[in-house]
Order: sequence, then structure tokens, then C-alpha cells
Amino acid sequence: MDSTSENRPILVAGAGSGIGKSVLENLNLLNKPAVGISRTGVEWKPGETFEFGRNFRCNLARPSEVTEFVSSLKIQCSSLAGVYFTFGSGLFKPVEKIALEEWNAHFVLNLNSLFLLTKELLPTLRPGSFLCYLSSTAGYQGFPESTAYCASRHAIAGFAKALREELKSDGIRVITVYPGAVYTDIWKGREGFDQDDMIPVDDFGRWLATLSTLPDAVYPDEIRLLPRKGIL
Ligand SMILES: NC(=O)c1ccc[n+]([C@@H]2O[C@H](COP(=O)([O-])OP(=O)(O)OC[C@H]3O[C@@H](n4cnc5c(N)ncnc54)[C@H](OP(=O)(O)O)[C@@H]3O)[C@@H](O)[C@H]2O)c1
Repeated sequence: MDSTSENRPILVAGAGSGIGKSVLENLNLLNKPAVGISRTGVEWKPGETFEFGRNFRCNLARPSEVTEFVSSLKIQCSSLAGVYFTFGSGLFKPVEKIALEEWNAHFVLNLNSLFLLTKELLPTLRPGSFLCYLSSTAGYQGFPESTAYCASRHAIAGFAKALREELKSDGIRVITVYPGAVYTDIWKGREGFDQDDMIPVDDFGRWLATLSTLPDAVYPDEIRLLPRKGIL
């Protein structure tokens, strides 16, 4: 894996489906060296080369898999141009119907893993590198049947805002994107929403991938992005 400053790789954490899969595809179209990780990625062994453009297996809800992957990545590449945090899950139920186990699992994946992956990857970041987090409209507004999701999306935004301040003297950019509805599996089975009102996932992925092409001195730290109808 080439890690010269001109051609440092990008990691897409959560590239198995939806937004992350589209970001990885669009980074490939932009000729950016990038690798993905998710539960459904291809298996690999420590010491193997991570081929650009591919999604590799890593269950981010398991801390040991996070640290194993980052250790292997560090052997091949000492620095990253950026990281997209596109993994996550929804949990949409009235509060009284959420089991504590579901609540805990939601936060393990959506928040704890995000913290651990960030912490493990920090030594690979250089001035000009970026960390791009996906919050949501649910990261600044409340919705019914969304207590867990709103709480985790607000928490991601808070984490990223604090990290933005913590890393600014190192020249590392922390970008928080608050997307409105993008049509992916996360919407399947939810009543009262129309796919045609949402941003097609490849339009969104194509746009998100372009953040990697910004000059280092350009720093869009918080971006709200909505479908034409606004918040659905
Ligand atoms: N779609 C929207 O309207 C929207 C709006 C705002 C924010 N978001 C946020 O954007 C993120 C991506 O959502 P999406 O809409 O693209 O949904 P999605 O299609 O369900 O994508 C979820 C992604 O997370 C990965 N993932 C899930 N569990 C994982 C695990 N344990 N370890 C590693 N990877 C895991 C999945 O890959 P594998 O299945 O291969 O593991 C997939 O790449 C979520 O955090 C979501 O909250 C989405």
C-alpha cells in the first residue's frame, strides 16, 4: 500500500452497503486509493496486503477486530489521508418497546466503536488528514420512535465537535455531516416515507467522496445536507 503524502490511502469504515459502499465506489472512480471494512467484507490474514477498492472483513462492534485490523493496516501504511465513518444501524421503536440489550448494542456499534476506531487510527493521521463522521437530522432534532437513534446521532455530533477542537492544532480536519433521508436499507420497512422523496444513495455517495478532493486548507467542519423536500 503506497503511503507517500500525495497518495495516502483513505479508509471507509462501513463499506458493505448503503452510503459507505457508494463512497468506496466513488473514491475508486476518483482514482483515490481507498479500502473499506465491514462485517461482509472479504476475509484477510494479518500481513496480507489490503488491495485498494475492496471491502475487508471487520466487525466494528468487536473491539478485538478493530485493533487487529488497525494493527495490520499500520504495517502497510504509516499514514492515512482520511477516514469516513459510514457504519451504523438504526433502532426505531417507541421507548417502552426498546429492550436494554438492544439499546446497549446500538450504542456499542454507533458510539463505542466509533470512539475506539478513532483512537486507534489517530497515530496514522497527519496535517491535512480528515475524519468524516455521519450524524443525521436526528443529530440536531428529535423524532418519535427514535430515542436511541437520536441519542446516538446527537452523541456522534458532540464527539466530533469536541474532537474538532482537540485536533485543530495538529491540522487534522474533523468533518461532521448531518444527512437528511438517503434511501438505503436503513429505511426499509419504515412506514410513512416515500423513497422518491429521498436522496438516491449514489448521488449522496458521489458528493461525500468529493470531500476527499478538497485542498487541506478548506475545512467544512459541519455540513447539513437535505433532500429537496427538506426534513421528512
Ligand atoms: N440513510 C440515511 O438516510 C441516513 C441519514 C443520516 C445518517 N445516516 C447514517 O449513515 C450510516 C450508514 O447508513 P446507511 O443508510 O448507509 O445504512 P446501511 O446501508 O444499513 O449501512 C450500514 C453500514 O454499516 C456497516 N455495518 C453495520 N454493522 C457493522 C458492524 N458491526 N461492523 C462493521 N460495519 C457494520 C454495514 O456493512 P455490513 O453489513 O457489511 O457490516 C454498512 O456498510 C449510519 O450510521 C446511519 O445512521 C443515514
